[in-house]
Amino acid sequence: MEYRFAAFADLTAQERQALFDLIKSLGLSDQFSTLDEMVGLMDTEYGKGRRHVSAWAARPSGGAPEPAGCLAAITAEAVTQGYLYLTGLRLRQSDAGLLPGLVDAVLALPEVSGEPYRTIRLGLIPARPDLEAAAKEAGFRYLYKALEMRRPLGGRLPALPDGLRPEFRTVEPGAVGELIAVHNAAFTGGFNSALLTDEGALEWLGDRLGTGLVQIGYAGGRHVCHFIMRVEDGLADLETIGVVPERRGQGLARQALIRAFETLRARGDVSSVTLTVIDANRPALGLYRGAGFEVTKERSVWYERER
Ligand SMILES: CC(C)(COP(=O)(O)OP(=O)(O)OC[C@H]1O[C@@H](n2cnc3c(N)ncnc32)[C@H](O)[C@@H]1OP(=O)(O)O)[C@@H](O)C(=O)NCCC(=O)NCCS
Repeated sequence: MEYRFAAFADLTAQERQALFDLIKSLGLSDQFSTLDEMVGLMDTEYGKGRRHVSAWAARPSGGAPEPAGCLAAITAEAVTQGYLYLTGLRLRQSDAGLLPGLVDAVLALPEVSGEPYRTIRLGLIPARPDLEAAAKEAGFRYLYKALEMRRPLGGRLPALPDGLRPEFRTVEPGAVGELIAVHNAAFTGGFNSALLTDEGALEWLGDRLGTGLVQIGYAGGRHVCHFIMRVEDGLADLETIGVVPERRGQGLARQALIRAFETLRARGDVSSVTLTVIDANRPALGLYRGAGFEVTKERSVWYERER
């Protein structure tokens, strides 16, 4: 089968509609529910649709070509970390053989090929075990899975460990500098390479500052750990727990977790806690399992290859 590849920005209105219909028929997208929302996502995430490619096949009966699949590139970390992320893959299992062609096509987009990345990370979101062989065919090797974990807010927590007792303080609006320092110290070189900037922190945390959902633990006058949560509809999501590298293995993460649970229990509007963890992050997985979290879902699978 011959395919034509086209950037989203260059599609006609009818083609956009056809691509939207394909994605919806695959039932794979919870990121948008209308065509307008999909266009909005292109504007914000994918360079106004110039970093998003779709494959188009001629119909045997003639008529307008039909969409077969699509893939997009996120370049935000190409300069800072050397990573290019490929996400938004939408493909039927029967079209899995198209994956290498889609990868080549998205890498060839002018807005992507000029970026200084060294490593390509391909994310299958949600996890698609049926596309594993195709990812290998395109030169990728398995990197890790992102797992969703959950536990009720009630019930027993691990005992407070002996030793260092940090003092936890709520991060107030206007004081994100300290948060950025502890977050970036904890995450540099780790599994989640996205580091915080002033602007990014405010955009991410905005109205949660000052509420107790974002706290830093101090010991000996220095920040040593932090946690970040969000609460929606009775559900808390523990987005981040971090400990500065020189203080790990002393029970600080466990104390941060206990403090986070105490904070949520005091609110009275939360029944369960979820989080997402990478299976290769053994310390984090051990921390969460030890606190009674159980895996509920494989959220995504990540593959990697060099440029
Ligand atoms: C994950 C992290 C928060 C753990 O912090 P920590 O203070 O070293 O953890 P603790 O000392 O409180 O240990 C708590 C539990 O975590 C697990 N754990 C911690 N370090 C571990 C390691 N090196 N290997 C395996 N399990 C480990 C254990 O289950 C431990 O319980 P135990 O002591 O009863 O065995 C820390 O390594 C970190 O900041 N990593 C980078 C940021 C990150 O990945 N955060 C999690 C994802 S958001």
